Amino acid sequence: MDDSNRALGLLDSGVGGLTVAREIFSLLPEEDIIYYGDTLHLPYGPKDLSVVKSYTEKIVDYLKEEKKVKAVVIACNTATSAALEYVKQKFDIPIFGMIDSAAKKAVEVSRNKKIAVIGTKGTVNSQAYQKAIKAQAPESMIFSQACPEFVDLVEDGKFYGDEVDKTAYKYLSHLINADVDVLILGCTHFPYLMPVLAEVMGSNVTLVNPAEEMALEVKKELYSLDLLKNNIKSLGLFKGKHEFIVSDKNRISRSFLEHGRRFLKLENLNFKENNIFNAVKK
Ligand code: DGL
Repeated sequence: MDDSNRALGLLDSGVGGLTVAREIFSLLPEEDIIYYGDTLHLPYGPKDLSVVKSYTEKIVDYLKEEKKVKAVVIACNTATSAALEYVKQKFDIPIFGMIDSAAKKAVEVSRNKKIAVIGTKGTVNSQAYQKAIKAQAPESMIFSQACPEFVDLVEDGKFYGDEVDKTAYKYLSHLINADVDVLILGCTHFPYLMPVLAEVMGSNVTLVNPAEEMALEVKKELYSLDLLKNNIKSLGLFKGKHEFIVSDKNRISRSFLEHGRRFLKLENLNFKENNIFNAVKK
C-alpha cells in the first residue's frame, strides 16, 4: 500500500487525546485515524515517567507493527514529556508530540510574558513546558499548576457544574492573582472544560489549546513528507475511517459517552477493546 494511504495513529491514556483527534478530523477529514486510549493504566499523570515511557513505547509499537500506521501523534502531554525523544529515536516513522508548538503559540500571544501552564503532575514536574517556553522567550515568567482532578472529572463525563467550578477555582485562583495573560491547557483532557476555564480565568487571559497547534503541525509535516492521503478523496468527497480502541472498555463511563459524543461531534464514538499489554494477543 502507498504509505500515504495508511492510517494515522493517535494515543493517550484515555479520552483526552480525542480533543486532538477532533482537531485532526476537522483539518484532515479524509485521513483514516486509529486512536488508542490506554484506559487500563489511566491516569498517567501521577505515575513515574519511566513507567509512562514503557506504556507509550508499547502502544507506538502496536500502532506501527499491527496497525501499520504511517505516523503517530502522541496526543498526551504526559506521554510526550516521558517518551517523545525516546520513541522518535527507536521507531522509523514520524512521531509528533504535544508541547513545543503550544509553547511557541503561548509566547506569540502573550503580551506581558507571564504564562501559566496547567497539566498533570508528570508533565508539570518534567518541566517540559517551562523549558520549551524559556527556549522561545527567556524573559518570560512561568506559573505552573498540576490539576489531576480535572482528568477524573472529564473521564466521568463531567464538563461543567458545581464540582467543576469549585475544582477550577481551587486550582486557578493563584494563577489569576499572578496576572498571567495566557493559560496553556497542557493536558489533552482539559479542552473539554474550556468554557469553565475561560469563565474562571476571565476575558483578559487567552487560553491556548495545544490540540489546535498539533493538528496544524501534523498537516504541515505530513505534507512536507508527502504523506498526506493522496487520492481523489482529498476533494473532500469521502471521509476517512475512524477506529477507537481502548485497553479496558469498562473504564469508559456512560456519562462520558453521552457528553463526549456531543462535544466531539462524533455520533459514532464506539470503542473496541484490545488489551495489548496482555501476553496473549487478541
Ligand atoms: N491526557 C493526558 C495528558 O495530556 C494525561 C492524563 C492522565 O492520564 O493523567 O497529559
